[in-house]
Amino acid sequence: MSDTAKFKRITLKLSGEALQGKQGFGIDPEVLGTIAQQLAEVVYLGVEVALVIGGGNIFRGLKASAKGMDRTSADYMGMLATVMNAVAMQDALERLGVVTRVLSAIEMKEIAEPYIRRRASRHLEKGRVVIFAAGTGNPYFTTDTAAALRAMEVNSEVLLKATKVDGVYDKDPMKFDDAVRFERLSYLEVLSRSLHVMDATAISLCRENDLPIVVFDMLSPGNICRVVCGDPLGTLVAPDGYERPAR
Ligand code: GTP
Repeated sequence: MSDTAKFKRITLKLSGEALQGKQGFGIDPEVLGTIAQQLAEVVYLGVEVALVIGGGNIFRGLKASAKGMDRTSADYMGMLATVMNAVAMQDALERLGVVTRVLSAIEMKEIAEPYIRRRASRHLEKGRVVIFAAGTGNPYFTTDTAAALRAMEVNSEVLLKATKVDGVYDKDPMKFDDAVRFERLSYLEVLSRSLHVMDATAISLCRENDLPIVVFDMLSPGNICRVVCGDPLGTLVAPDGYERPAR
């Protein structure tokens, strides 16, 4: 079957933990390289790729605030962690010859361009992978919300949420053998059943703007490409009537 991209512009949300591999902390260069390779394949198909990476492999704001740290300070530290991941991913992609730009929601001009929406769109039009760093730049917002927001701002057709499990289940598939995977969900079902797809702010934002979300597992190599080419992987969260492009 030929690999033809079914989307022109996507936003991909990667968890920071995806980069840590088996070491359980930080960035595993081998894992980073494998993910970069997968992203490069998507870029070679002509897809415009925007990327949002979490920071949980380096610092978890919520966890720290639960242990007494001021929530705002903890969230800012989490945002800084995403900048490290963004710069690491930029390096990995550019070593594969993929042109990238890192745009940060918190100004740090020596390291990254400041986030300017029109500039981000221009980079994407030129085929550069745009890596959005520092979340939304605001505490109390997750990187999932940043991904939803940026996806809308740059008019992505879909938000791909890459995780460790192959979709959304009715209960934790790591704990329950009889957990059932959903093929499709509405935004309201995600919210009312408290399914852990993304936080409620991110889901509400996507719902209000009819942005489809595909939750899939990126541990199997080639999955990002397969989703982009129309394989029905993972779970779709979308408005009624939306049909996922198929091969
Ligand atoms: P075009 O306008 O399409 O040519 O985009 P461009 O990104 O190539 O142009 P520009 O001359 O703005 O950028 C050249 C290089 O400098 C790129 O690698 C940018 O990421 C980088 N760059 C631009 N502005 C900043 C900034 O404020 N901070 C940092 N650290 N790098 C920047």
